[in-house]
Amino acid sequence: MSEPADTRPSSQVLAQELPASVREAGLTNWIREPLDGAVDRRRRVIVPPAAATAGTPLRSCQGALLAEVRRPDTVVMMGDNPELPTMPERPALRDFFELRFGKIAYSHLLQSARLAREHGLSEKVIMACLLHDIAIAGLLSANHGYWGAQMVAPYVDEEVAWAIEKHEALRYFPDESVGYTYPHAYIDYFGPDYRPPEYLHREHEAARQHRWYMTSRLITINDIYSFDPDVVVEFDQFEDVVGRNFRQPREGLGFDGSPVAHMWRTMIWPNNFL
Ligand SMILES: [Fe+2]
Ligand SMILES: [Fe+2]
Repeated sequence: MSEPADTRPSSQVLAQELPASVREAGLTNWIREPLDGAVDRRRRVIVPPAAATAGTPLRSCQGALLAEVRRPDTVVMMGDNPELPTMPERPALRDFFELRFGKIAYSHLLQSARLAREHGLSEKVIMACLLHDIAIAGLLSANHGYWGAQMVAPYVDEEVAWAIEKHEALRYFPDESVGYTYPHAYIDYFGPDYRPPEYLHREHEAARQHRWYMTSRLITINDIYSFDPDVVVEFDQFEDVVGRNFRQPREGLGFDGSPVAHMWRTMIWPNNFL
């Protein structure tokens, strides 16, 4: 396609104008050709969200990707991405685990819940462990404790949501009285000199004074920092705990009109342009 440059909005950079490193590494990953046998033969462009691209070379793909959409055989991705398993009309928590979460996140959550169960902890703690990184699994990693807590708050005991929120801060701070030390994995992740920002120090101090402190602390104790590929845990093993501790909405997660339904819909259709 050749267009005189002056008819394009300045944000629309054509693919061939991008540096080769960006073009080769990034652009094609976001353009989905129709799958074999698909009735709709149009290409679909996934426009990656700002949270995933800010500060990376992918940011400069945005304009080029939008320029692709001007081709008559190309649209932006909306609705079901054929490369993701289709979700049922009324999705339950289990469907997000099995059809949306990646293998590592799925195992991490289930292995953490399993460890809590092996330690003989209450169902509240097991449930909190099962859900603690749900935001990383399906939505966003930064501030994952806060996103995750909000996402599950309408469906779980208040103490479970509180514990999930506060584990964000507590992870960084040892509590020798219960044998929790700073995770070795964090030295690899963040480097030996990493210091959490001030607000997390304040969050930690406040959480320590709270009556539910130990519930959140137990998440950090049962958090599996190294994923064990030999331990296979399936959602089935927690169906009973979930049944008793997660109020599954009749309309399905994402469609119950709750203040967090949009978060679940974002996990159902993570590639929607708008
Ligand atoms: Fe976490
Ligand atoms: Fe975790």
